Amino acid sequence: MNLHPLPAFDVVVTGRAEIASDIVLLTLERAGGEALPSWSPGAHIDLMLPNGIERQYSLCSDPADTARWSVAVLREAAGRGGSEYVHSTLAVGETLRVRGPLNHFAFDTAPEYAFVAGGIGITPLLPMIRAAEAAGVPWTLDYAGRSEGSMAFVRELRSDHPLQVSVYSSEAGERLALDERFASVAAGALVYCCGPSRLLDAAQAVADGSGWPAGRLHLERFEAKAAGAPVLADAFDVELELSGMTLTVPPERSILDVVEEAGVLVLSSCREGTCGTCETPVVSGEVDHRDSVLTPEEQADNEVMMICVSRAACPRLVLEL
Ligand code: FES
Repeated sequence: MNLHPLPAFDVVVTGRAEIASDIVLLTLERAGGEALPSWSPGAHIDLMLPNGIERQYSLCSDPADTARWSVAVLREAAGRGGSEYVHSTLAVGETLRVRGPLNHFAFDTAPEYAFVAGGIGITPLLPMIRAAEAAGVPWTLDYAGRSEGSMAFVRELRSDHPLQVSVYSSEAGERLALDERFASVAAGALVYCCGPSRLLDAAQAVADGSGWPAGRLHLERFEAKAAGAPVLADAFDVELELSGMTLTVPPERSILDVVEEAGVLVLSSCREGTCGTCETPVVSGEVDHRDSVLTPEEQADNEVMMICVSRAACPRLVLEL
């Protein structure tokens, strides 16, 4: 039983280019030439690599182009091997399985936007910037990275939009002061921020300290945030309403592991609460949300949960599975 289907299909790598130090831009087209699924700015796809590793990458091409997708892949020496495979082995002409697109970083309508990128976090913001520009909506981008040579798309962004784009290279001693920057963001503007955890945590802290209303700051995390100790230290029960099963989840296992072991097929990818693939509707019960995908408001709504990391905050959860 596949309760949350996402399309999975083959694509062919039709282009690859080194666009910055340790960043490769891949162009993907559907094997067979059909149109690719539609997507909106902020969406990502799962790349299922031939070495068995599955990784999520934000789409950074033009959503109107249904013939090809682009993803930019940063080589992560301490990663699980996905980016290393892309950099060292993946060649033009190779076929890959992909799943998606999925979007947990939706681009909402606003009278103005402030974009904040750290390193490879520029990728989901790029289609948003293009959409804001095309709609004539004012925007700014603050883009921080180790060095300009390591920052994808930095030259085009700066030369095309010199008044809107500010670049901060830590190697050059330049620093993005988020508190000052956020203090000057126009009332009503939405802020979209993507990058390493330390940048996103700092952005959240400044927004909280400034009393920003819920929904003004939008974050996209590539790395799981620290979740702290679970609410319940003990086992809990999960009732699967559609499957008619009740399962016990011990403290050392995830709901996803237990559900899969019982033979219920749930799509998953990152298994660390960052991609949103395992999102599952909650019928009843309190959830200990431990993911890095849902906003605090979505978590408080308690309507869905990421069962790869989130747990029960009560003895019995009922899920639509
Ligand atoms: S599998 Fe990615 S959030 Fe659960």
